[in-house]
Amino acid sequence: MKSTVEPFEHLTGQLKKEHKKSYDAWLQYEPVMDKSLSGQYQQYARSVEAMETSSIIQSAKQELHHAFTSMFENTAGHDDGAERCGIVLTTVESVEGPLKVEAARLSRDGYQIKSVLTSEGPRIYLIGMEEQGVLYAAFHLLRIMQNGSLVDSLNITENPTNQLRMINQWDNMDGSIERGYAGASIFYDKNGFTGDLERIKDYARLLSSVGINGISINNVNVHHVETNLITESLLPKVADVAAVFRAYGIKTYLSVNYASPLQLGGLSTADPLDPGVRAWWKEKTKEIYQYIPDFGGFVVKADSEHRPGPFTYNRTHADGANMLGEALEPFAGLVFWRCFVYNCLQDWRDRSTDRARAAYDHFKPLDGQFHSNVILQIKNGPMDFQVREAVSPLFGAMEHTNQMLELQVTQEYTGQQRHLCYLVPQWKEILDFDTYAKGKGSEVKRVVDGSLYQPAYAGITAVSNIGNDYNWTGHTLAQANLYGYGRLTWNPDLSSEEITAEWIARTFGKDEVVHEQVRSMLLDSWSIYENYTSPLGVGWMVNPNHHYGPNPDGYEYSLWGTYHFADWQGIGVDRTVASGTGYTSQYLKENKEMYESLQTCPDELLLFFHHVPYTHELKSGKTVIQHIYDTHFAGAEQAENLKTMWEMLEGRMDGERYRDVLSRLVEQAEHAKEWRDIINTYFYRKSGIKDQQNRKIY
Ligand code: GCU
Repeated sequence: MKSTVEPFEHLTGQLKKEHKKSYDAWLQYEPVMDKSLSGQYQQYARSVEAMETSSIIQSAKQELHHAFTSMFENTAGHDDGAERCGIVLTTVESVEGPLKVEAARLSRDGYQIKSVLTSEGPRIYLIGMEEQGVLYAAFHLLRIMQNGSLVDSLNITENPTNQLRMINQWDNMDGSIERGYAGASIFYDKNGFTGDLERIKDYARLLSSVGINGISINNVNVHHVETNLITESLLPKVADVAAVFRAYGIKTYLSVNYASPLQLGGLSTADPLDPGVRAWWKEKTKEIYQYIPDFGGFVVKADSEHRPGPFTYNRTHADGANMLGEALEPFAGLVFWRCFVYNCLQDWRDRSTDRARAAYDHFKPLDGQFHSNVILQIKNGPMDFQVREAVSPLFGAMEHTNQMLELQVTQEYTGQQRHLCYLVPQWKEILDFDTYAKGKGSEVKRVVDGSLYQPAYAGITAVSNIGNDYNWTGHTLAQANLYGYGRLTWNPDLSSEEITAEWIARTFGKDEVVHEQVRSMLLDSWSIYENYTSPLGVGWMVNPNHHYGPNPDGYEYSLWGTYHFADWQGIGVDRTVASGTGYTSQYLKENKEMYESLQTCPDELLLFFHHVPYTHELKSGKTVIQHIYDTHFAGAEQAENLKTMWEMLEGRMDGERYRDVLSRLVEQAEHAKEWRDIINTYFYRKSGIKDQQNRKIY
């Protein structure tokens, strides 16, 4: 899939200049036109005083300076202490008096923002528990200013809800990105590392501004060449990248190849219980920490989609993960062990091996057996980031195991950043899903923020959606997904509306028409996309391998064309205990009963859990087949309407962003029609049932 946005090829500086609006994403820092606001802000912006000198505090100062230079004509608040009023950056340790006592209650990444009128004049204190908190406070203050709010009586205390707030790059060392839809990698090109640390720094700024504190910088599918990332030939380069992220409070992690001892160590086995293998990983880990003393740890995809793993040696995933956990332990490093483990070659007709069951079946029996620094990384659903699927029953099912939620910001199955599909509402549903693990109120967000079981580690991670396109995300409006993802990892209780409003104001400014149109486009886009693509939770229906575009029987791992079991009478996967794969039994009672029964199973997941005739009546009163026709006709119309709505914004923003988005919306409207026609025709041919409204089905 070639991106239509021109790829970045030259100097980042030039790129930034030529495509400033697109490139700056939500860090626009428009000049403040309101005189009285500008006056108030400048009172503080005149001086930025830092009580410490670490690289993170320097970043905070730079961010403020950069923003103030762009927001105000005269003020470049930078000269420490020259003025007696202004902004004071400090950690709790260096602050004195009552401010210290109050701030001592902050959590590790927490901060306070306080406007104080001192005898020398007004000040704003940005107080972090640690230095990264100071940086987050600086970004928060700038957000307030971008939103045009007053800053003279701020009294804000913020603690992130989640401890680990990560992003996973699926970048390969040839410069390609697995499931990347925004150009090539910013980290690598055909020669290895790009060395463009300026672009990486700008990425770090975006991530840190929304609270992300960890990044893995290579694909979970670690091929031969990326296996070398943990060798002396490449570790110095990894260290350079890690230094850039460190200055923004972000730890660097690497995805590692489970079979590294064979490729790199010349060993004859990667058996996790083999003493030689264990010693090799310990030595290797020690070496990594010599280059990167605060290295975060490893992300591991094992025994999945042809990747090597402990199963080869008849060992469990606990054996595999614990071996790495032990190697990392002396350095306080972490292992993110992915639960995306299933047999991709299974025959879907064999009802005893439902792919949806795989993660739970593999991992649940291992509860309590993982090392304290191993965290299980669980995709939101049991399948693979579909537009709609059930929430993974593993959440909450392992009381004695660290768990982390994995989302996909890159839009693999949701339009590949050629279609608008704002995923914050989907993620909210996932986070708010009640697992009932400890009775009512055991939502996924409470499992992964650690408040339900108090594990040693917990959090949220996601596959990134950026590349080297000048607007980072291919579709300019897809920037909102990265923004929203970060904001939710910080505080999953923010509403979709709040996050959306913030993003629009920071990205496009205060124009009310822009605000209203973009707000409704974003918030409706997930359901629009769902309308014209795969219906009622059945999933897939995409072309093989690249996964773009409609193809009802196309998914590559359904070699027998039967994953949705559509025939002339009906469709859907029977996952009930009563007559199907028994997948519903993996949920706790309340959810199990809800999904098991046709009466209580929510419509939107009906075909995920049940096989029904096309004439089955939904709660909406429509039959399944009529629902399919109606949503597909409606979805294509809605996609057309997104384009019309955007056209109303011509002249209300810079031409580049306007045109870029318009071209994507034109494409979306066209492709939505293709989806409509292919899906409707497929079901008409299968069922032989006519559309009640006699619309034309091709
Ligand atoms: C999906 C995706 C792959 C990816 C895999 C994973 O199957 O299509 O590209 O490698 O998920 O999450 O490991």
